[in-house]
Amino acid sequence: MKSDVKNIKLAPQGKKRIEWAESQMDVLRTIKTRFKRTKPLKNISIAACLHVTAETANLMRTLKEGGANAVLCASNPLSTQDDVAASLVNDYKIPVFAINNEDRKTYYKHLNAVLDTKPEITMDDGADLVALLHSKRKNLAENIWGSTEETTTGVVRLESMEKAGKLIFPVIAVNESKTKHFFDNRYGTGQSTVDGIVRATNVLLAGKTIVVVGYGWCGRGFATKARGMGAHVIVTEVDAIKSIEAVLDGFQVMPMMDAAPLGDFFVTLTGDLNVVDGPHMKKMKDGAIVCNSGHFDNEINMKWLRKNSIKKREVRDFVMEYTMPGNKHIRVLAEGRLINLASAEGHPPSVMDMSFANQALAAEYVKKNHKKMENKVYVLPEKLDNMIAEIKLDSMGIKIDTLTPEQVEYLASWQLGT
Ligand code: ADE
Repeated sequence: MKSDVKNIKLAPQGKKRIEWAESQMDVLRTIKTRFKRTKPLKNISIAACLHVTAETANLMRTLKEGGANAVLCASNPLSTQDDVAASLVNDYKIPVFAINNEDRKTYYKHLNAVLDTKPEITMDDGADLVALLHSKRKNLAENIWGSTEETTTGVVRLESMEKAGKLIFPVIAVNESKTKHFFDNRYGTGQSTVDGIVRATNVLLAGKTIVVVGYGWCGRGFATKARGMGAHVIVTEVDAIKSIEAVLDGFQVMPMMDAAPLGDFFVTLTGDLNVVDGPHMKKMKDGAIVCNSGHFDNEINMKWLRKNSIKKREVRDFVMEYTMPGNKHIRVLAEGRLINLASAEGHPPSVMDMSFANQALAAEYVKKNHKKMENKVYVLPEKLDNMIAEIKLDSMGIKIDTLTPEQVEYLASWQLGT
């Protein structure tokens, strides 16, 4: 079995982490039990490009129990948990091509390695496999039944491809399931971003001014958790509706240029380019800390910062201090890569449980339906989304009410008014 991991001897520690995560992934465990019995993915090759974490390991195990030949590479060079990668190879016989801190060339060598297995289904977190299958590895695309996409940034990329008529196989946008973005993006990113910042800096957040750039599901999740830590939170946005939501949620909203001199921390969660740019950094105070929790490392204009600083010094793991003319310092965490996976462990297992339940069911859906699917971006049927929520709620020991027959009838009728 071909693989490329940092050190296979790390497997025992990785196995412990995988088992710990699994204990909190009730929905995925339920699916795994069914997959083991019914083998819905028998002999199908699945190539996954996801963050190599303990939670992802449990998705890979689920796919394998379903009968798939599943292989994994990293969707980000900094997020790989090397012990987890080692355990997947050693203990679960799942090929992995991922090494933490791999360079760009190795990153793409690993993506190509999983595509070499000639998959019928691919899974992405950021659409990098799909992009390769539409460019350098287009020869493999005819083998593809369909793909799945984990994150908002990837979905935006795929929707652009669909709109331009360029998509050559169907994709399920797992991110669009309610049981994904309501929880993973909001509560997962909220907690893991606080976790990443605290682990990287050990700075007390209480009393600090934190500028949250972007008020999508991730931004609002983080803004709420940052407030919970006692920070004063400023939100910057480009969308009028989201801005009103932020104001009514009790946050101060203003343009980035006005927020720049006020913030102790700047956290980007937009999926867009250079949202912290040169002119903003020029206005920041000495010692401002800047980081990103969006998928790609292009939200902070690092090129500008590198060009316009006179000195660069690592002051702590994951903290690079840039000195600007006039002896002003700007501290960037994890070189602008996603902080929650670079210096912390990503979202906790119990939230990834629902995200990866969606991934497992999306693979099964593609297997069953690919012949009638078009080259479009799909959302998983609501029935499956609700089923995931019901299993999750049950695993939490929470019971809810059901409509009475009278209420069902009332909701279906239009004659009854005032
Ligand atoms: N994305 C965010 N957190 C994650 C995690 N723990 N595992 C995989 N992907 C993630």
